[in-house]
Amino acid sequence: MSDLQVVALSKVFGGLRATDDVSFSIEAGTVNSIIGPNGAGKTTLLNLITGIYEPSSGDVRLGGKSLIGKPTHVRVGMGLGRTFQTPQICHNMSAIENVMLGSHLQLDSRLAPAALRRRSIVSADKQCRARAAELMNYVGLGRYLEESPGAMPYGALKRLEIARALAGSPKLILLDEPAAGLGAPEKAELSQLISKLSESGVTTVLVEHDMKLVMSVSKHIVVLNYGKKLAEGTPDVVRDNPEVIAAYLGRAA
Ligand SMILES: Nc1ncnc2c1ncn2[C@@H]1O[C@H](COP(=O)(O)OP(=O)(O)OP(=O)(O)O)[C@@H](O)[C@H]1O
Ligand SMILES: [Mg+2]
Repeated sequence: MSDLQVVALSKVFGGLRATDDVSFSIEAGTVNSIIGPNGAGKTTLLNLITGIYEPSSGDVRLGGKSLIGKPTHVRVGMGLGRTFQTPQICHNMSAIENVMLGSHLQLDSRLAPAALRRRSIVSADKQCRARAAELMNYVGLGRYLEESPGAMPYGALKRLEIARALAGSPKLILLDEPAAGLGAPEKAELSQLISKLSESGVTTVLVEHDMKLVMSVSKHIVVLNYGKKLAEGTPDVVRDNPEVIAAYLGRAA
């Protein structure tokens, strides 16, 4: 069954076609990657899927339902979760409070800490906190519950964002460069976490430059270049595609 369908999707900024007539489908419960050189349109595509941008044309469907025109919080309710290329963490809140935000707030990059203090949310605080602690344990951050994000390693912040996304109980999670800035041991932990997510039935879409990670975890890969889909297929098919190799010339494709 196809979970996510991207149909003839385009996004034009001025004269630039950041996303140019892109179509692909993602199968439910699988790990997928979107790759491509810098500026290829990978983050723009995630922003179109999550509703930070509205497309110039085309459609995005989740479980057969169009997401177009729906605000981000509605898309979260429909089962979308995401992390950001640069972690969007509130530094004046503890790690666990950041995860608790994921139960209540939009996937927008503009987070609102004041929302946590609203009376209705405070009344549900205990339950929400217990769930957030569970998720932090799940992503391997159990020892950081009350930690200030500023005191946490970068790799831990990346996983904190994954825990926050999971707090919205997503069916599909989009991770924008989760391995960027991580050392080899942290990348190995991330790879295990991605496999664990997939085993639990969450569909995963990874935007990633680390080809070793991409090739080892993905079932399906979509390659973008200058906003267009250049190729798609299994890791083996994509790896051997001459156009993909040319687009990545000088990189570890
Ligand atoms: N809000 C915007 N306004 C104008 N141009 C934009 C906007 N967002 C992205 N772009 C342009 O769209 C193109 C694709 O950018 P995008 O951030 O999607 O690339 P990317 O594949 O995620 O790159 P990277 O690997 O460096 O993160 C770039 O040329 C970028 O400058
Ligand atoms: Mg990007």
